[in-house]
Amino acid sequence: MMKKANLIMLGAPGSGKGTRAAALCEVLGVEQISTGDLFRHNISEGTELGKLAKSYMDKGELVPDDVTAAMLEDRLKQPDTKKGFILDGFPRTIRQAEMLDKMLSDLGEKITAVIYLDVPDEEIIRRISGRRICKSCQASYHVSFTPPMHEGRCDKCDSELVIRDDDKPETVKKRLEVFKSTTFPLVKYYEDKHLLVTIPPELSKAGAVADMRELARKLNLI
Ligand code: AP5
Repeated sequence: MMKKANLIMLGAPGSGKGTRAAALCEVLGVEQISTGDLFRHNISEGTELGKLAKSYMDKGELVPDDVTAAMLEDRLKQPDTKKGFILDGFPRTIRQAEMLDKMLSDLGEKITAVIYLDVPDEEIIRRISGRRICKSCQASYHVSFTPPMHEGRCDKCDSELVIRDDDKPETVKKRLEVFKSTTFPLVKYYEDKHLLVTIPPELSKAGAVADMRELARKLNLI
Protein backbone atom coordinates (compact mmCIF):
# COMPACT_ATOMS: atom_id res chain seq x y z
CA MET A 1 0.00 0.00 0.00
CA MET A 2 1.54 3.31 -1.15
CA LYS A 3 1.01 6.43 0.98
CA LYS A 4 1.06 9.94 -0.42
CA ALA A 5 4.44 11.59 0.22
CA ASN A 6 5.61 15.20 -0.12
CA LEU A 7 9.36 15.03 0.45
CA ILE A 8 12.37 17.34 0.38
CA MET A 9 15.83 16.13 -0.66
CA LEU A 10 18.39 18.30 1.12
CA GLY A 11 22.16 18.23 0.64
CA ALA A 12 25.25 19.96 -0.67
CA PRO A 13 25.91 20.37 -4.40
CA GLY A 14 26.86 16.96 -5.80
CA SER A 15 25.65 15.09 -2.71
CA GLY A 16 23.35 12.97 -4.88
CA LYS A 17 20.01 14.79 -4.48
CA GLY A 18 19.09 14.32 -8.15
CA THR A 19 20.18 10.67 -8.23
CA ARG A 20 18.37 9.77 -4.97
CA ALA A 21 15.25 11.79 -5.83
CA ALA A 22 14.91 10.03 -9.20
CA ALA A 23 15.26 6.62 -7.48
CA LEU A 24 12.75 7.47 -4.75
CA CYS A 25 10.27 8.81 -7.34
CA GLU A 26 10.52 5.45 -9.12
CA VAL A 27 9.73 3.65 -5.84
CA LEU A 28 6.86 5.96 -4.80
CA GLY A 29 5.42 6.94 -8.20
CA VAL A 30 5.57 10.67 -7.37
CA GLU A 31 6.95 13.69 -9.30
CA GLN A 32 10.55 14.91 -8.99
CA ILE A 33 10.76 18.71 -8.96
CA SER A 34 14.29 20.04 -9.36
CA THR A 35 14.63 23.83 -9.31
CA GLY A 36 18.10 23.45 -10.91
CA ASP A 37 16.58 21.47 -13.81
CA LEU A 38 13.73 24.00 -14.16
CA PHE A 39 16.32 26.79 -14.43
CA ARG A 40 18.46 24.79 -16.89
CA HIS A 41 15.35 24.15 -19.01
CA ASN A 42 14.63 27.91 -19.07
CA ILE A 43 18.27 28.59 -20.01
CA SER A 44 18.14 26.16 -22.93
CA GLU A 45 14.84 27.74 -24.09
CA GLY A 46 16.40 31.23 -23.88
CA THR A 47 13.61 32.65 -21.64
CA GLU A 48 14.02 35.85 -19.59
CA LEU A 49 13.92 33.72 -16.43
CA GLY A 50 16.69 31.54 -17.89
CA LYS A 51 18.88 34.58 -18.66
CA LEU A 52 18.43 35.91 -15.15
CA ALA A 53 19.09 32.51 -13.52
CA LYS A 54 22.22 31.93 -15.62
CA SER A 55 23.79 35.16 -14.38
CA TYR A 56 23.67 33.73 -10.82
CA MET A 57 24.28 30.05 -11.56
CA ASP A 58 27.48 30.70 -13.55
CA LYS A 59 28.95 32.40 -10.46
CA GLY A 60 27.84 29.59 -8.12
CA GLU A 61 25.38 31.94 -6.38
CA LEU A 62 21.73 31.37 -5.52
CA VAL A 63 19.01 32.80 -7.74
CA PRO A 64 16.97 35.33 -5.67
CA ASP A 65 14.36 33.77 -3.35
CA ASP A 66 11.32 35.51 -4.85
CA VAL A 67 12.14 34.45 -8.42
CA THR A 68 12.82 30.84 -7.41
CA ALA A 69 9.76 30.56 -5.16
CA ALA A 70 7.44 31.94 -7.86
CA MET A 71 8.77 29.35 -10.34
CA LEU A 72 8.27 26.57 -7.80
CA GLU A 73 4.76 27.71 -6.88
CA ASP A 74 3.73 27.52 -10.57
CA ARG A 75 5.09 23.97 -10.73
CA LEU A 76 3.39 22.89 -7.48
CA LYS A 77 0.03 24.08 -8.80
CA GLN A 78 0.18 21.60 -11.69
CA PRO A 79 -2.21 18.65 -11.21
CA ASP A 80 0.46 15.91 -11.41
CA THR A 81 1.83 17.00 -7.98
CA LYS A 82 -1.43 15.91 -6.30
CA LYS A 83 -0.11 12.34 -6.09
CA GLY A 84 2.95 13.63 -4.16
CA PHE A 85 6.36 15.07 -5.01
CA ILE A 86 10.03 15.19 -4.11
CA LEU A 87 11.63 18.64 -4.06
CA ASP A 88 15.24 18.44 -5.23
CA GLY A 89 17.15 21.69 -4.57
CA PHE A 90 14.38 23.66 -2.84
CA PRO A 91 14.36 25.18 -0.25
CA ARG A 92 17.93 26.48 -0.02
CA THR A 93 17.43 29.35 2.45
CA ILE A 94 15.38 29.72 5.62
CA ARG A 95 13.26 32.31 3.80
CA GLN A 96 12.54 29.81 1.00
CA ALA A 97 11.53 27.23 3.64
CA GLU A 98 9.09 29.73 5.18
CA MET A 99 7.72 30.58 1.73
CA LEU A 100 7.28 26.86 1.03
CA ASP A 101 5.36 26.36 4.30
CA LYS A 102 2.95 29.11 3.21
CA MET A 103 2.60 27.77 -0.37
CA LEU A 104 1.83 24.27 0.87
CA SER A 105 -0.63 25.42 3.48
CA ASP A 106 -2.47 27.44 0.78
CA LEU A 107 -2.65 24.24 -1.29
CA GLY A 108 -3.82 22.20 1.73
CA GLU A 109 -0.58 20.20 1.71
CA LYS A 110 2.35 19.67 4.07
CA ILE A 111 5.83 18.15 4.09
CA THR A 112 6.00 14.45 5.05
CA ALA A 113 9.78 14.26 5.65
CA VAL A 114 13.07 15.96 4.75
CA ILE A 115 15.87 13.63 3.64
CA TYR A 116 19.33 15.05 4.33
CA LEU A 117 22.24 13.53 2.39
CA ASP A 118 25.26 13.95 4.64
CA VAL A 119 28.28 13.56 2.31
CA PRO A 120 31.82 14.79 3.07
CA ASP A 121 33.44 17.47 0.87
CA GLU A 122 36.14 15.20 -0.61
CA GLU A 123 33.47 12.75 -1.87
CA ILE A 124 31.47 15.66 -3.30
CA ILE A 125 34.48 16.91 -5.27
CA ARG A 126 35.05 13.35 -6.62
CA ARG A 127 31.43 13.09 -7.71
CA ILE A 128 31.16 16.53 -9.32
CA SER A 129 34.49 16.28 -11.16
CA GLY A 130 33.32 13.08 -12.88
CA ARG A 131 29.75 14.17 -13.62
CA ARG A 132 28.56 14.37 -17.22
CA ILE A 133 25.04 15.41 -18.21
CA CYS A 134 23.06 14.88 -21.38
CA LYS A 135 22.89 18.04 -23.47
CA SER A 136 19.36 17.23 -24.45
CA CYS A 137 17.45 15.31 -21.70
CA GLN A 138 19.66 16.33 -18.69
CA ALA A 139 20.20 12.69 -17.57
CA SER A 140 23.21 12.56 -15.24
CA TYR A 141 26.17 10.13 -15.37
CA HIS A 142 29.52 9.74 -13.65
CA VAL A 143 32.56 8.71 -15.69
CA SER A 144 33.58 6.07 -13.08
CA PHE A 145 30.56 5.37 -10.80
CA THR A 146 27.66 5.38 -13.28
CA PRO A 147 29.19 5.50 -16.79
CA PRO A 148 26.98 5.48 -19.91
CA MET A 149 26.95 2.33 -22.08
CA HIS A 150 28.71 4.20 -24.91
CA GLU A 151 31.33 6.76 -23.91
CA GLY A 152 30.16 10.36 -24.31
CA ARG A 153 26.58 9.42 -25.37
CA CYS A 154 23.34 9.38 -23.36
CA ASP A 155 21.81 5.91 -22.78
CA LYS A 156 18.29 7.38 -22.98
CA CYS A 157 18.43 9.60 -26.10
CA ASP A 158 21.95 9.11 -27.58
CA SER A 159 22.71 12.85 -27.37
CA GLU A 160 26.16 14.18 -26.45
CA LEU A 161 27.22 14.18 -22.77
CA VAL A 162 28.81 17.41 -21.53
CA ILE A 163 30.28 18.95 -18.35
CA ARG A 164 27.78 21.25 -16.62
CA ASP A 165 28.70 24.96 -16.88
CA ASP A 166 28.70 25.35 -13.07
CA ASP A 167 30.86 22.23 -12.46
CA LYS A 168 34.14 24.14 -13.03
CA PRO A 169 36.36 23.83 -9.89
CA GLU A 170 36.17 27.55 -8.94
CA THR A 171 32.36 27.58 -9.26
CA VAL A 172 32.04 24.33 -7.25
CA LYS A 173 34.11 25.92 -4.44
CA LYS A 174 31.70 28.87 -4.35
CA ARG A 175 28.63 26.57 -4.43
CA LEU A 176 29.98 24.63 -1.45
CA GLU A 177 30.59 27.88 0.48
CA VAL A 178 27.03 29.04 -0.27
CA PHE A 179 25.68 25.66 0.89
CA LYS A 180 27.51 25.86 4.22
CA SER A 181 26.62 29.48 4.98
CA THR A 182 23.06 29.66 3.63
CA THR A 183 21.52 26.21 3.12
CA PHE A 184 23.02 24.13 5.96
CA PRO A 185 20.96 26.02 8.64
CA LEU A 186 17.91 24.23 7.16
CA VAL A 187 19.14 21.01 8.80
CA LYS A 188 18.35 22.52 12.22
CA TYR A 189 15.16 24.19 10.90
CA TYR A 190 13.72 20.79 9.90
CA GLU A 191 15.22 18.97 12.88
CA ASP A 192 13.28 21.34 15.13
CA LYS A 193 10.11 20.42 13.22
CA HIS A 194 10.90 16.68 13.69
CA LEU A 195 10.93 16.15 9.93
CA LEU A 196 14.62 15.45 9.32
CA VAL A 197 15.91 12.01 8.30
CA THR A 198 19.70 11.91 7.77
CA ILE A 199 21.20 9.44 5.31
CA PRO A 200 24.85 8.71 6.07
CA PRO A 201 27.29 8.27 3.14
CA GLU A 202 27.31 4.43 3.63
CA LEU A 203 23.71 4.30 2.44
CA SER A 204 24.45 6.63 -0.47
CA LYS A 205 26.22 4.01 -2.60
CA ALA A 206 25.28 2.86 -6.09
CA GLY A 207 22.11 0.74 -6.07
CA ALA A 208 20.07 3.83 -5.43
CA VAL A 209 16.64 2.28 -6.07
CA ALA A 210 17.17 -0.54 -3.52
CA ASP A 211 18.46 1.98 -0.94
CA MET A 212 15.48 4.25 -1.53
CA ARG A 213 13.00 1.34 -1.27
CA GLU A 214 14.51 0.53 2.12
CA LEU A 215 14.21 4.19 3.16
CA ALA A 216 10.57 4.34 1.98
CA ARG A 217 9.81 1.29 4.16
CA LYS A 218 11.56 2.88 7.13
CA LEU A 219 9.42 6.01 6.67
CA ASN A 220 6.26 3.86 6.37
CA LEU A 221 5.57 5.18 2.88
CA ILE A 222 5.19 1.71 1.34
P1 AP5 B 1 21.15 22.28 -8.77
O1 AP5 B 1 20.96 21.80 -10.12
O2 AP5 B 1 20.10 21.97 -7.75
O3 AP5 B 1 22.59 21.83 -8.27
P2 AP5 B 1 23.17 21.44 -6.86
O4 AP5 B 1 22.31 21.56 -5.66
O5 AP5 B 1 24.43 22.17 -6.80
O6 AP5 B 1 23.24 19.92 -6.94
P3 AP5 B 1 23.81 19.10 -8.12
O7 AP5 B 1 22.80 18.98 -9.21
O8 AP5 B 1 25.17 19.61 -8.45
O9 AP5 B 1 24.05 17.70 -7.43
P4 AP5 B 1 23.07 16.64 -6.82
O10 AP5 B 1 23.07 16.76 -5.32
O11 AP5 B 1 21.73 16.60 -7.50
O12 AP5 B 1 23.91 15.33 -7.17
P5 AP5 B 1 23.77 14.32 -8.39
O13 AP5 B 1 22.68 13.34 -8.12
O14 AP5 B 1 23.78 15.03 -9.70
O15 AP5 B 1 21.31 23.88 -8.74
C1 AP5 B 1 22.19 24.53 -9.64
C2 AP5 B 1 22.11 26.03 -9.42
O16 AP5 B 1 20.76 26.51 -9.64
C3 AP5 B 1 22.43 26.52 -7.99
O17 AP5 B 1 23.82 26.67 -7.78
C4 AP5 B 1 21.68 27.88 -7.97
O18 AP5 B 1 22.38 28.87 -8.66
C5 AP5 B 1 20.40 27.55 -8.76
N1 AP5 B 1 19.32 27.09 -7.87
C6 AP5 B 1 18.74 25.86 -7.86
N2 AP5 B 1 17.81 25.78 -6.90
C7 AP5 B 1 17.80 26.99 -6.27
C8 AP5 B 1 17.07 27.52 -5.18
N3 AP5 B 1 16.17 26.79 -4.50
N4 AP5 B 1 17.32 28.80 -4.81
C9 AP5 B 1 18.21 29.56 -5.47
N5 AP5 B 1 18.96 29.11 -6.51
C10 AP5 B 1 18.75 27.83 -6.90
O19 AP5 B 1 25.16 13.52 -8.19
C11 AP5 B 1 26.40 14.14 -8.46
C12 AP5 B 1 27.31 13.14 -9.20
O20 AP5 B 1 27.64 12.06 -8.32
C13 AP5 B 1 26.70 12.51 -10.44
O21 AP5 B 1 27.71 12.35 -11.40
C14 AP5 B 1 26.19 11.14 -9.96
O22 AP5 B 1 26.21 10.19 -11.01
C15 AP5 B 1 27.21 10.81 -8.87
N6 AP5 B 1 26.62 10.08 -7.74
C16 AP5 B 1 25.43 10.33 -7.16
N7 AP5 B 1 25.23 9.49 -6.12
C17 AP5 B 1 26.36 8.71 -6.04
C18 AP5 B 1 26.78 7.69 -5.17
N8 AP5 B 1 26.03 7.27 -4.17
N9 AP5 B 1 27.99 7.13 -5.35
C19 AP5 B 1 28.78 7.56 -6.35
N10 AP5 B 1 28.43 8.53 -7.23
C20 AP5 B 1 27.24 9.10 -7.07
